[in-house]
Amino acid sequence: MQRPNSTTLSVAASRAAAMPAVSRAFYGSAILFLLAGIGVGLHMAASQDHSAVAAHAHTNLLGWVTSALFGIYYALNPQKAVGWLPWLQYGLYTAGLLTMLPALYLLYTGMPEIEPLVAAGSMAVAAGVLLFAIVLFMPARRSRIAASAVPAE
Ligand code: HEM
Repeated sequence: MQRPNSTTLSVAASRAAAMPAVSRAFYGSAILFLLAGIGVGLHMAASQDHSAVAAHAHTNLLGWVTSALFGIYYALNPQKAVGWLPWLQYGLYTAGLLTMLPALYLLYTGMPEIEPLVAAGSMAVAAGVLLFAIVLFMPARRSRIAASAVPAE
C-alpha cells in the first residue's frame, strides 16, 4: 500500500480545515429544512389553501436561510467553530426548530392546543440565536489545527 506523502497530507489537512464540522452540520440541516419548506409551499399552492403560510415562511427563513448563514459564518471563522459552544448552539437552535416548525404547521392548520409546543420550540430557537451572539462577540480561541501546527521546541 502506498504511504501518503506530505503533499497528500497537506491537501487532506487543508480540506479538513476548509469546512468545520459544525458548518457541515448546519448545511445538512439547512437543505433538509429547505426541502420541507418547499414541500409545504408546493402543497399550499396546489391545494390553494394558504393557512400554513407561517410554517412555510419560518421553515424557509429560520430553517434554510438562517441555518445556512450560521454555517457560512463558522466556515469563514473556523477559529470560532472550535470547542463545545458552537455545537451547543447548533443543537439548541436545530432542536428548537424541529420542535417549533411542525407545531407551527399544526397550529395553523387547525390544532390550537399545540401552542405550548410552539412556545417551547421558539424559546429554544431564541436561546440558540443568543448563543450565536455570544460566539460572535467573544474573543476568538486559537484553532486546534493552528495550535497543533506550532513546532515543538
Ligand atoms: C417551490 C418553492 C416555493 C413555493 C411553491 C412557495 C409557495 C408559497 C405560497 C403558496 C405562499 C403563500 C402566499 C400567500 O398566501 O400570500 C408563500 C408565502 C411565502 N413564502 Fe414561499 N414558496 C416557495 C419557496 C420559498 C422560499 C425559498 C422562501 C424563503 C427563503 C419563501 C418564503 C415565503 C414567505 C416569507 C412567504 C410569506 C409571504 C407573505 O405572507 O406575504 N418561499 N410561498
